[in-house]
Amino acid sequence: MKVTVIGAGNVGATCANVLVHKDFLEEVVLLDIKEGTAEGKSLDIWQSAAIENYSTMSRGVTNDYAASANSDVVVITSGLPRKPGMSRDDLISTNAGIVGSVTENVIKYSPNAIIIVVSNPLDVMTYCSYLTAGIDSKRVFGMAGILDTARYKAFLATELKTSPKDIQAILMGGHGDTMVPLPRYTTVGGIPVTELIAKDKLDAIIQRTKVGGGEIVNLLGTSAWYAPGAAAAQMVEAICKNENRIFPCCALLNGEYGMKDIYLGVPVKLGRNGIEEIIELKLNSDEQALLAESAKAVKEVMSVLDNMRMAAN
Ligand code: LAC
Repeated sequence: MKVTVIGAGNVGATCANVLVHKDFLEEVVLLDIKEGTAEGKSLDIWQSAAIENYSTMSRGVTNDYAASANSDVVVITSGLPRKPGMSRDDLISTNAGIVGSVTENVIKYSPNAIIIVVSNPLDVMTYCSYLTAGIDSKRVFGMAGILDTARYKAFLATELKTSPKDIQAILMGGHGDTMVPLPRYTTVGGIPVTELIAKDKLDAIIQRTKVGGGEIVNLLGTSAWYAPGAAAAQMVEAICKNENRIFPCCALLNGEYGMKDIYLGVPVKLGRNGIEEIIELKLNSDEQALLAESAKAVKEVMSVLDNMRMAAN
């Protein structure tokens, strides 16, 4: 199978690098608008194949979408990252234009591809790609929940001095400070997390998770890439191997959770057709209220995009 990663910045290059190491694809194409960047990074990645013992080819191109033709999955990472003091929503006008034109080119050459959006503001950029692609929403969705739950799991693992591998968790809502980690759906080696950690410590971890992206922006002056790139690669793997894995992903809701016409993080089953199923949890009233609050924040940014598109037409 063939996968294209658009954007050879830190997140895109990391995603491509993680993908080739998994060694289940024929080819990973990395595409960037900056002359030579994708070529250079792909060549460097390919030169690690003999050391790391994998066969997946990587190829870099400058804005040549023909090279992406007939991709099974395309990961869109293009756009500006955050700088300290910026919210993800501050990126909307610049990144909407970029994600829209990238999606047009992607669909032109790979009409049957599944599109995974990683660009920020995530929920709204996924919506933007969906509007432009004009394909079934089961084939256009966003990467955020795997990253956000991975951060939550990392903080829990540090606190509990346990392996992150044993932590199972679900987190819902938008990819912003209103995201909703769900302690009731968090277990460690099968044990409910609430039996292992005091409430104040768990609350602090939930709060740190919500601003987990911002913590890294403040440390680095730009946004994260290792965990975001790995998270997108995990989604690609679940699709290409038809694993039917359950992950929180940013999906278009059509009545699920009592919501419609909104892209929001929810648990889904990922397989060969993209989103095989959206899983509806029986949330309690507190969880529902938090999800509604997060949906409201996402809707506000979606309406900014709708107004921009109306003004452009
Ligand atoms: C983050 C960016 C990628 O959360 O949204 O790190």
